[in-house]
Amino acid sequence: MALERTADPDEVRRAVRAWQAEGLTVGLVPTMGALHEGHLSLVRASVAECDRTVVSIYVNPAQFGEGEDLQEYPRRLDEDCRVAEQNGVDLVFCPTDRVMYPQGHATFVVQERLTEVLEGAFRPTHFRGVLTVVCKLFNIAPADRAYFGQKDFQQTVVVRRMVCDLNIPIRVRVMPTVREEDGLAMSSRNECLTAREREQASCLSRALVEARRVYEGGRTDAGALREAMRAVIAAAPLARPDYVEVVDHETLEPVSEVTDRAVAVLAVRIGRTRLIDNMPFGPSASD
Ligand code: PAF
Repeated sequence: MALERTADPDEVRRAVRAWQAEGLTVGLVPTMGALHEGHLSLVRASVAECDRTVVSIYVNPAQFGEGEDLQEYPRRLDEDCRVAEQNGVDLVFCPTDRVMYPQGHATFVVQERLTEVLEGAFRPTHFRGVLTVVCKLFNIAPADRAYFGQKDFQQTVVVRRMVCDLNIPIRVRVMPTVREEDGLAMSSRNECLTAREREQASCLSRALVEARRVYEGGRTDAGALREAMRAVIAAAPLARPDYVEVVDHETLEPVSEVTDRAVAVLAVRIGRTRLIDNMPFGPSASD
């Protein structure tokens, strides 16, 4: 089936409903485009698990704060559509700002507690923008399953919370982080790094590997793991950490003792680019 591409929410909803009326299951992969292997792993999971796959491509201004990289965020819709088609996507939804936030738009999804820590402490309006657009996408494309990457760990936690709290009938699937050869988690923002920054950007994943090494060596106090991660980051001269934490996978509260509920999380600025990464200590729940 050839790929369809539309900016019209009604067309997307009609297509999804028509497929479901035929008894087909539908997967939704929300993205901001500049598709890389990380996105494609979500697409492949959806294509494998669902009869039809919808990818949304929309750089959502509401999730960027003032002074953040909205303007610099990479955009290449035609190439993304080609890649989507090659990977078995049936429909791309690529709306404009006017479609998503028409004049007079005044309703936002605000979640308490979970959105106030970690990323939320540094980007206070970020999750309000993410949850608003994800909620809108779930309404526009009422799919059976939606696919997110573990790389944006806190995003997966707050999206699951919203789906549960607002009784949204969609199953959230979380797929493992896809990494470059040196361990750097794939992200569209990696393109913004200079060569020297790119070299040092592997300090995030190296810090996580070090935390695992310390943990597997028998240390379960989170303080020791935090210190081990901080030391790796401190050795990269261009790296400035925003936070380096070990938190509970559901409450996002810092833990003192590492169990299989714990996740090491970090956000580090490398030059002007801000990168995040994480590593669950237990089995990472995909459902
Ligand atoms: O993870 C992302 O790319 C975005 O936050 C999402 C989920 C597509 C919402 O804009």
